[in-house]
Amino acid sequence: MGSKFRANSYIARNSGTVVQRYRHSYHVMPEIGWCNDPNGFAYYDGKIHLFYQYNPYSAGWDTMHWGHVTSRDFIKWEYQPVALAPDMPYDDCGCFSGSAIEKDGMLYLMYTGVNAEGLQQQCLAFASDGVSFEKPFVEPVITKENVGSEMSIQDFRDPYVFRTGGYYYSIMGTKAQDYGNIALYRSKDLINWQFQGYCMNGTDPKGDNYYRLNAVYECPCFAEVDGKQILICSPQFLPQEGCRFQNVHSVVYMVGRLDLESGRFHYDKFEEVDSGFDFYAAQTTTMPDGRVVLSAWMQMWDRNLPSQPDGWAGAMVLPRELHYKNGRLYQTPVREIENYRLNRVERKDIALGGDLVRIEGIVGDTLELIAEFEAGTAERVGIKLFEGKEHETLLYYDCKKGEVVLDRSCSGVPLAGVEENNATRSVEVPVTDGKIALRVFLDNTSIEAFVNDGYAVLTANVYADEEDEGISFFAAGGTAKLNRVTKYDIVVK
Ligand code: FRU
Repeated sequence: MGSKFRANSYIARNSGTVVQRYRHSYHVMPEIGWCNDPNGFAYYDGKIHLFYQYNPYSAGWDTMHWGHVTSRDFIKWEYQPVALAPDMPYDDCGCFSGSAIEKDGMLYLMYTGVNAEGLQQQCLAFASDGVSFEKPFVEPVITKENVGSEMSIQDFRDPYVFRTGGYYYSIMGTKAQDYGNIALYRSKDLINWQFQGYCMNGTDPKGDNYYRLNAVYECPCFAEVDGKQILICSPQFLPQEGCRFQNVHSVVYMVGRLDLESGRFHYDKFEEVDSGFDFYAAQTTTMPDGRVVLSAWMQMWDRNLPSQPDGWAGAMVLPRELHYKNGRLYQTPVREIENYRLNRVERKDIALGGDLVRIEGIVGDTLELIAEFEAGTAERVGIKLFEGKEHETLLYYDCKKGEVVLDRSCSGVPLAGVEENNATRSVEVPVTDGKIALRVFLDNTSIEAFVNDGYAVLTANVYADEEDEGISFFAAGGTAKLNRVTKYDIVVK
């Protein structure tokens, strides 16, 4: 059993002890301790609210609380008191992931309470100030009494709540005996819920392989992006398919139509959201200006985490705007990041193919780099980042394979997970005019690489030495051109 008072006092007393070497400067991370999934991402009362799965007491996963930050622009965040602690009989083994929605002027959190018997049930909390959350309900609002026959009450979690047509709806990840699924519920008042049906079944376009995962489609969320209905979720143990789904757990999006009566999501596209190493449990929110913005955990389960001895672990990606075009989801960093650009350096028309090219003023590990290449005759063309005497992180286009590759095998502290391939991640990128555009964000120990205006993204953590700040450009196996490169330092104070 936890308490918010205990958690907040612990944070206040101990966050000063956290070692700074691997900390980010413009990504959300816990003041101290462990965080995983983003939760309750919402705009409420003039501010953006982001919560996260949180264990303040150590840098490892344990009984979950909800941490809380707020922002006016997605970039500069302020820590708020812990929003939820595991302090009720129905959630005393953890307040697992969930979402937020405004109702009657209050901010409601719908989350999964895990009790001592391991039951996962959906619970509510609310606050009239968006900060001091109360749990006035004696029981969870979706209990073991109203689960469907193909669900397990031990694997029934991560409610994502939304409103349409006069009803509230909530989708949750669950699992029957040997397959994963997503369940849809409906309510008039957020308190009384009715099971509508399952979002997926074995006849889905991708067939049994995906449906029968024997695992959970964790953290589902639902959004309308440029007129298309998109279901995003985090299936555990998705089988690898070429260079896709290489992490132990993946994040995918499906494009289709949600039948609110039967619960079925009829979809015809099933794609990976991010092609890097460290990206999980994505959640979206729709802003008053219509933008659909995505957050995600910038980590992956079952990896070594070099920041743990420093007293913290886990961070969120730079929030991304979603768009649907050319039959796929495009992601671009929230435009507000451009307000934090400083010290611009720009160069044009640089020939590549001989030695590594270093450009005066293009150096650093907390910055934005925009580079447009023309592949020419080269076999590989790209950038070395976090370069030092012993380390480098490679981001390049493999012209033969038509793939953008992120290679962190020589980045710094070796990182290994349960996957076979700890060295590279890649994504197919069709290039018609020979041009490849990389927009890269570094934040001390992270890299997010947006390819061709958001066609693909590769996200990863790297733990280089402090002085590994070099950046160079290269072409191998032929010649290429760096048409234009721009660097901005990103400075958030
Ligand atoms: C996903 C997840 C969720 C769960 C939470 C627990 O990373 O496993 O399904 O609610 O983490 O912290």
